[in-house]
Amino acid sequence: MWNGGPKAKFLGLATLICASILSGWALFSVLQSHALEAELLTLPPDDLPAHADIVNFAIAHARPVYASNCAACHGGDMRGRPDKPAPDLTGSSSIYDSSSVVSLEHTIRYGIRSGQSMGRNIADMPAFGLSGQLSSAEIHDVASYVQSLSQPVIDAKSVIRGHEIFENKGVCYDCHNGDGTGNRDYGAPAFNGHWLYGGDLDSIYHSIYYGRHGLCPAWADKLSSLDIIALALTVFEKSHGSNDTVSGSASLLKARAASAAFVTNASVPLHGNN
Ligand code: HEC
Ligand code: HEC
Repeated sequence: MWNGGPKAKFLGLATLICASILSGWALFSVLQSHALEAELLTLPPDDLPAHADIVNFAIAHARPVYASNCAACHGGDMRGRPDKPAPDLTGSSSIYDSSSVVSLEHTIRYGIRSGQSMGRNIADMPAFGLSGQLSSAEIHDVASYVQSLSQPVIDAKSVIRGHEIFENKGVCYDCHNGDGTGNRDYGAPAFNGHWLYGGDLDSIYHSIYYGRHGLCPAWADKLSSLDIIALALTVFEKSHGSNDTVSGSASLLKARAASAAFVTNASVPLHGNN
C-alpha cells in the first residue's frame, strides 16, 4: 500500500493529470499534422495558398528539405548566390512560369535541362560566337544593347548597332521578345537587371559568344511528393508574398507574414547588378 501523506497524494495526482494532458496534446498534434499532410497531398495545388494552416505546415516541412537540397545553389535565403547561376526564388522576375503552385511543382519535380524527359528543356542560349553566326564585334554591340536595357551604357553608337543585330541578324527577339522582356515558355530570361550570369559587359559577352545551359536537377526520384509540394508552395508564398502586387484574403496575408519567417539568413546578397 502506498502510504504517502495528502500532499504526496496530491502531487501524484497532479503529475498524472499533467502527463495525460501532455500525451493528449502530443497525440492531437500528431493527428493534426497527419491531417495537414493529407490535405497538402490531395487538395488541388492551386487551392493550397488560400489555407493558412496548410501553408504554415508546408513552410515548416520544407525548411530542412530546402536547407539540405536547394540552399547550396539557391542560397540559404532563397535569393540566389553571387557565385552560382541559380536564380533568386523570391522575386517576381522568374525565368519559367512561377505564377502557380502547379507550375512550380513541375519545375521542381522534373528540373530544367535535367535529362528527365518531363524536364523543362525547350531552348538553350545558342553560342553565337563559337558557331560563327556573329562576329566578336557584333557580339560586343549586341551585348551593349542588352546591357543598356537595364543600365546606363557609355557607348551609344554600339548600343544602336546592337539593337539592329538584336532585331535582325541575331534573331534574339525570337526567344527574348522584341523588347527584351523574355519568354517564360522558352526559359529565355528578361533583360531587366536580374542577371543569372552577371550584368557586366564581359559576362554578357560570354553568354552570347559561348551560349548558356543552366541546369536545375530533377527531384522526382530524390524527394517525396510531400517534400516537393511543400517546396513548391513555399516558393510560391515567398515569390508572391514579397512582390505585394496580388491582394489576397486575410488568411493568405497571414500565411505570407508567416512565410517571411522562413528567411533565416538575409545577409546573402542578390546576385547580379540590380
Ligand atoms: C546544382 C544547383 C541547383 C540545385 C541543388 C537546385 N537548383 Fe533550382 N535551379 C538551378 C539553376 C541553375 C536554375 C536556373 C536554370 C536555368 O538557367 O534555366 C534553377 C532554377 C530553379 C527554379 C526555376 C526558377 C525560375 O526563375 O523560373 C526553381 C523553382 C528551382 N530551381 C527550385 C529548386 C528547388 C526547390 C531546389 C531544391 C529541391 C533546387 N532548385 C535545387 C540550380 C539548382
Ligand atoms: C533559341 C532561343 C534563344 C535565342 C535565339 C537567343 N537566346 Fe539568349 N538565352 C536563351 C535562353 C534559354 C537563355 C537562358 C539560358 C540559361 O538559363 O542558362 C538565354 C540567356 C541569355 C543571356 C544570359 C542572361 C542572364 O541572365 O545572364 C544573354 C545575355 C542572352 N541570352 C542574350 C541573347 C542575345 C543577345 C541573343 C541574340 C544574339 C540571344 N540571347 C538569342 C535563349 C535564346
